[in-house]
Amino acid sequence: MTKRWWKESVVYQIYPRSFCDSNGDGIGDLNGITEKLDYVKELGADVIWLSPVYQSPNDDNGYDISDYQAIMEEFGTMEDFDRMLAAAHERGIRILMDLVVNHTSDEHKWFVESRKSTDNPYRDYYIWRPARDGGLPNNWGSCFSGPAWEYDDTTDMYYLHLFSKKQPDLNWDNPKVREDVFAMMNWWIDKGIDGFRMDVISLISKEPGLPDGIPGLNGYASECVSANGPHVHEYLQEMRQKVLNNADTMTVGECAGVTLEEAKKYTRSDEKELNMVFQFEHMDVDCDPAVGSKWSRQKMDLVRYKEILTRWEKGLEENGWNSLYIQNHDQPRCVSRFGDEGEYREISAKMLATCNHMMQGTPYVYQGEELGMTNAPFGGIEDYRDVESINAYHELIAQGKFTEEEMLALLRYRSRDNARTPMQWDDTENAGFTAGTPWIMVNPNYTFINAEEQVKREDSVFHYYQKLIRLRREKEIIVYGTYDVLLPEDENLYLYTRTLGEEKLLVVCNFSACGQKVDIPAEFLQGKILIGNYSDVSVRETAVLRPYEAFVIEK
Ligand code: GLC
Ligand code: CA
Repeated sequence: MTKRWWKESVVYQIYPRSFCDSNGDGIGDLNGITEKLDYVKELGADVIWLSPVYQSPNDDNGYDISDYQAIMEEFGTMEDFDRMLAAAHERGIRILMDLVVNHTSDEHKWFVESRKSTDNPYRDYYIWRPARDGGLPNNWGSCFSGPAWEYDDTTDMYYLHLFSKKQPDLNWDNPKVREDVFAMMNWWIDKGIDGFRMDVISLISKEPGLPDGIPGLNGYASECVSANGPHVHEYLQEMRQKVLNNADTMTVGECAGVTLEEAKKYTRSDEKELNMVFQFEHMDVDCDPAVGSKWSRQKMDLVRYKEILTRWEKGLEENGWNSLYIQNHDQPRCVSRFGDEGEYREISAKMLATCNHMMQGTPYVYQGEELGMTNAPFGGIEDYRDVESINAYHELIAQGKFTEEEMLALLRYRSRDNARTPMQWDDTENAGFTAGTPWIMVNPNYTFINAEEQVKREDSVFHYYQKLIRLRREKEIIVYGTYDVLLPEDENLYLYTRTLGEEKLLVVCNFSACGQKVDIPAEFLQGKILIGNYSDVSVRETAVLRPYEAFVIEK
């Protein structure tokens, strides 16, 4: 296996709006990030993925970009960005920019031009279609409710938006679009950034003829109808040649609808496209099984979770590379979802981290995950900020799919806003996030869940993450060892091994709140505990695992 720095790295994701506010306007910003770089350094991450900081009207918090080469006013200036980049590099931290090029904002100058007339030079930068039988051009839906088409009376046509109305899809089949996007990316590369996380990059190539797809919960086909389209690999290879090869970059493609077979092409080991992808199968384990909708309170099925992750671990072992994540800005908090928010919050947060970080792949830590931050006690719809949550609330209630009460319970459990409450720095007002009024509520549990307290306390979740990251630097087997699952049918335990030459690790995780008996394979009985979430672990032939217990044994 070829060694690469991005296989050995740990990425810390920052959602700038919610990270740290330096000027008291209630919104996190670039200077706030610069102030906190030492914290990231102390944790041990060596790459930051920065969610979008570009100019944006903020319909989708920066994922709707109106100028790719300008900084969002609320976040600061280009000088602030340059200072942050230099300060990160001084600390040995690389910066991955979020590249959002499946769509732009409807306020981007390309779209402003495009909608003016059918013969505007920018018309074909987007996807315009006339009505079909007096109605929508096809049955595609927006990821954020309703149809994926918006009627524009200037030219009596519809434009495609797989996300919000304010996020029109770019037409990647137009070579000029690709040229302009690549030029913009090279401008950032020349600035010295270290790579890209590519937003829904699997959706950029649409099936010719835009055929109808299978309808989901709300009656429309999901955005995944456009996943892994006919030219996506060709366009990414072009991007590799024209941009990514110009520097020593790291790339991770967010690939909605990606299958393992497709991922092998995206991440092929000859490095012609991307370094790794974010796949979604393990994030869908608690979706509604009938319609695949995220608006469900289905509990995760561990057997299925293991089957998925094992298939990905084995599948990309030689032919690609995995990214490892259990949380990001689009997912509810992982302890609330897969662990325990109450008595076992810290123990279960550490167990989930152990399970994730010990696999083969590059781990991603989402801000606050390293503190065991939880979902927030949102009340009514007025507490929510996310376009997806607000639209789904209105649509699904209007369609009679859920009552208001049911929908609020679902949002509280699954909304993306759960990940977006402010980072909890200390126990002062507003968790030390802002001196002003925060743009979204602060989780009241900041009084006891906060960075200051955890950095001070040796047995905190923070220190546990720090140790996991340190172990990865010390032991090559954690990066490059191969993965094999044990007891795939066990409903409560996740056990796997890692192997590199003669070396071997055993990872033991109890996903339940009950005691569980487990037989430790003989070859590990003389082994050494590398890390564990209870202080007094001893290796025995038959161990009784405590609630959410996890440990790693080195043979
Ligand atoms: C990706 C982003 C998400 C955003 C969407 C549209 O899924 O992670 O936050 O809303 O793309 O850009
Ligand atoms: Ca601010």
